[in-house]
Amino acid sequence: MAKIWYLGHSTLQLEIDGVRIVTDPFISDNPKAADVNVSDVEADIILVSHGHGDHVGDLVELAKTTDAEVISCFEITTWLENQGHSNVRPMNIGGNYVSRGIRFKMVNAVHSSSFPDGSYAGNPAGFIIEGQNDCIYFAGDTALTYDMKLINEEFDLTGALLPVGDNFTMGPDDTLKAAQMCGTDRVVGIHFDTFGFIEIDHEQTEKLFEDAGIELFLPNPGEELEI
Ligand code: NI
Ligand code: MN
Repeated sequence: MAKIWYLGHSTLQLEIDGVRIVTDPFISDNPKAADVNVSDVEADIILVSHGHGDHVGDLVELAKTTDAEVISCFEITTWLENQGHSNVRPMNIGGNYVSRGIRFKMVNAVHSSSFPDGSYAGNPAGFIIEGQNDCIYFAGDTALTYDMKLINEEFDLTGALLPVGDNFTMGPDDTLKAAQMCGTDRVVGIHFDTFGFIEIDHEQTEKLFEDAGIELFLPNPGEELEI
């Protein structure tokens, strides 16, 4: 079981085999995560899916204060190095890397990517996080894509962190299809309710997944869970 502390939007602190992995740190500017303190977040490794502001808002500060190893595409790790954080691992889609006994595979995401100042941030991505007993797909920001079937062919997922807020990413119907395609029966919804464009109807979404026999968690920022 992976321990998860949901910090709002697409930010999660996962604990797998004793390693703390934080995804897309965006807390200080998230109005829905006002009760979460960035200084409470602990990270050995930070994964960054793409360069948009709602995924890198607290990246530089958290990387520096924790001295975590930041795993992301080459363009994002270079940007971080230029800001004085050198503990990085540049990757690109399709690549595998093992750190602290955890295997990370960078996989395709269908989205866009640029830094908050508009400069080029490489291609958006997702990650497979494979520990001894856990195998979790963090999808980043993405639309539904048939590439998710490749994940099912290669991995035996124990859970997936999938965007469900619609508008900028896939929404509930496609997120359900994504879960079926990548072969998981356990989903933690991310990238929903943070702002108006991505508000979802919880009851309707929960029913959709329940009817399909897939467990869906729609956590509140600050909530802890296990998958
Ligand atoms: Ni985005
Ligand atoms: Mn986003």
